[in-house]
Amino acid sequence: MAAFRSPSTGMVLLLLMSLLVAAFADGNFYQSCDVVWGHGSHGMIQEGGELLSLSLDKTSGSGFQSKDEYLFGKIEMQLKLVPGNSAGTVTAYYLSSKGETWDEIDFEFLGNLSGHPYILHTNVFSQGKGKREQQFYLWFDPTADFHTYSILWNPQRIVFYVDNIPIREFKNLEFLGVPFPKNKKMRLYSTLWNADDWATRGGLEKTDWSQAPFKASYKKFKADACVWSYGSSHCSPNKNVWFWEELNFAKKGQMRWVRDNYMIYDYCTDTKRFPQGLPTECAFSNLF
Ligand SMILES: *[C@@H]1O[C@H](CO)[C@@H](O)[C@H](O)[C@H]1NC(C)=O
Repeated sequence: MAAFRSPSTGMVLLLLMSLLVAAFADGNFYQSCDVVWGHGSHGMIQEGGELLSLSLDKTSGSGFQSKDEYLFGKIEMQLKLVPGNSAGTVTAYYLSSKGETWDEIDFEFLGNLSGHPYILHTNVFSQGKGKREQQFYLWFDPTADFHTYSILWNPQRIVFYVDNIPIREFKNLEFLGVPFPKNKKMRLYSTLWNADDWATRGGLEKTDWSQAPFKASYKKFKADACVWSYGSSHCSPNKNVWFWEELNFAKKGQMRWVRDNYMIYDYCTDTKRFPQGLPTECAFSNLF
């Protein structure tokens, strides 16, 4: 009898638990991120690690970072931004390396008065040089619900996605002398802070502290990436998908739709700012 006993309830439970852990590991903030600013008081991991919330009041903002550093990857997160009167607040969500000649890929959400649109600000730094801002309005209310914001970073291109719709592509045009981030590992950072000296209508709208605390929420962090550890990188099993990802005809069409209808600033058309001539990538970004 004993020899043919079916697995004990304990064993079954153990098995179930390990399956659950495996299923949630990807999106679990306890495993993937650390709150490094305003920990406990303003930045909190909740719901068993499924939700992360940042808040800002007069005493402090807050922020978190990924435990891992990446050298190429596709990074995804769902964000729900500060609702109501969010003027003066900025929610930044970006990849960045360290040092004087750092690389950086930025999403920044600039708050606004109730009923007025957020600005989604994007930028790409390579070797410490940015000045590549493009700004957009969104085609939905980013405070009503969670939406997915992703960064694709592979050796050929950087693509910014909103709900899987590409809004911006920065191609590797190194052969034209445009530096491209490809040697420095980057970490994911996100912060909620007060920037009412510039953020909303160029600094005209100040943060209304009577509305504090301001709160942004995060869910479903996913990094399909090459993770840096002990001096080498370890890539996700489906590396061959994102590592070679490019924009097909349909995706390019979606991107054109966003850029035609929602783009409000493009450094590549700002001739006043670049009297010596627009940056090289501006002339060529549609060609290759
Ligand atoms: C805020 O609203 C004003 C007026 O609708 C708009 O011009 C501006 O682009 C909006 N966003 C920010 C961040 O200033």
